[in-house]
Amino acid sequence: MDSSSELKKMAFAQRLEGVPRSFIREILKVAISPEVISFAGGLPNKDLFPLEALSSSAQKLMTSGDRNILQYSNTEGYIGLRKKIAERYAKKGLSVHPDNILITNGSQQGLDLLAKVFINEGDKIVIEKPGYLGAIQAFSVFRPSFIPVPLLDDGIDTIRLEEAVTNESPRLAYLIPNFQNPSGISYSYETRQRVADICRNRLLYLIEDDPYGDIRFKGEPLPSFYHFIPEQTILLGTFSKTVVPAFRLGWIVAPDDVMDKLIIAKQAADLHTDYFTQRLVCQYLTDYDVDNHIATISRSYGEQAKAMIAAIEQYFPPEVKYTRPEGGMFLWITLPRNINSMELFDRSIQENVAFVPGNPFYTDNENVNTCRLNFSCSNESEIFIGIQKLSQVIREMMAENV
Ligand SMILES: Cc1ncc(COP(=O)(O)O)c(C=O)c1O
Repeated sequence: MDSSSELKKMAFAQRLEGVPRSFIREILKVAISPEVISFAGGLPNKDLFPLEALSSSAQKLMTSGDRNILQYSNTEGYIGLRKKIAERYAKKGLSVHPDNILITNGSQQGLDLLAKVFINEGDKIVIEKPGYLGAIQAFSVFRPSFIPVPLLDDGIDTIRLEEAVTNESPRLAYLIPNFQNPSGISYSYETRQRVADICRNRLLYLIEDDPYGDIRFKGEPLPSFYHFIPEQTILLGTFSKTVVPAFRLGWIVAPDDVMDKLIIAKQAADLHTDYFTQRLVCQYLTDYDVDNHIATISRSYGEQAKAMIAAIEQYFPPEVKYTRPEGGMFLWITLPRNINSMELFDRSIQENVAFVPGNPFYTDNENVNTCRLNFSCSNESEIFIGIQKLSQVIREMMAENV
């Protein structure tokens, strides 16, 4: 037997057994052709990237004569950038010390590092139902036992959360209180307060993932869990939706003892996050008013969300329920019980419309009738045409299923 077939027979580590490839990345391969109107991606709108501003800040750095911008750096991240992040939290009324901020390779790496630091096989983790696919994947590598808790219109079901926390003693709860991915749902003030009350004084960390909080196009900002229980809250943030995703710049805010562990995990993973892009984003934040830029993004996504809701109201049968996000990039539809969203996907793609069926957002693998629709990357006319086509397929399936 040659050595390559020996190698193929060699057993891989159990860690990745049963952890699927990202379902969305697979779907995007089908949805990529130009004739498809795609509500499937989760991408920020590239037309809004601050290309010229970044180019000018990069030029400034590159011609500064400071050769350290291209050198290895410390694990925690560039202090100038960490101070800027702390200042942004201060503007929201949250007191975060730069020493408690770790710069990561996107918030996706934050999820991986937290999983490494906290999860032993079989440990229990509360996750929203439906939950963020990227977190389900990152956590699954470490083989936890998920406790899915349903989302209601105003955030997680706090009765079910209290039951889960009391009966199952989870180590972590992973929540996205602002414009959740995939549902677009935001937690009300009362739900946030209640969640904090339930978690307070238990041996439990609450991971608050907030990639979309700044992209608000309706309503008023609401307090973070960090406002209520700072010592038990770990915050995840990112520049992916407010500046650009390509730089892969995110961060974790964590208490001192958690930070110590995270730094070890980060060193083992990659020593530190790309130093040049840290310097570049810091330079950009110094040279330009990012809040102005965020306001432009929010206005645009607000218009796109409005168009999608108008199209849904005009075309979808009344049996289809949908969320009305106040920010972010997604809304969530619930079809009549007997319509299978995977089948709807297969039929819609024949009509050149794509979306993400709800399946990968559930840890209990149900046969589902829910779908995620992204509105940030389509213009008004595409939105109307895409929703109209989708509604035709839904109506056909409803007629077949009576
Ligand atoms: C809820 C949530 N968390 C984390 C991420 C990962 O973001 P990043 O680009 O910072 O890795 C995303 C990206 O879409 C997200 O929706």
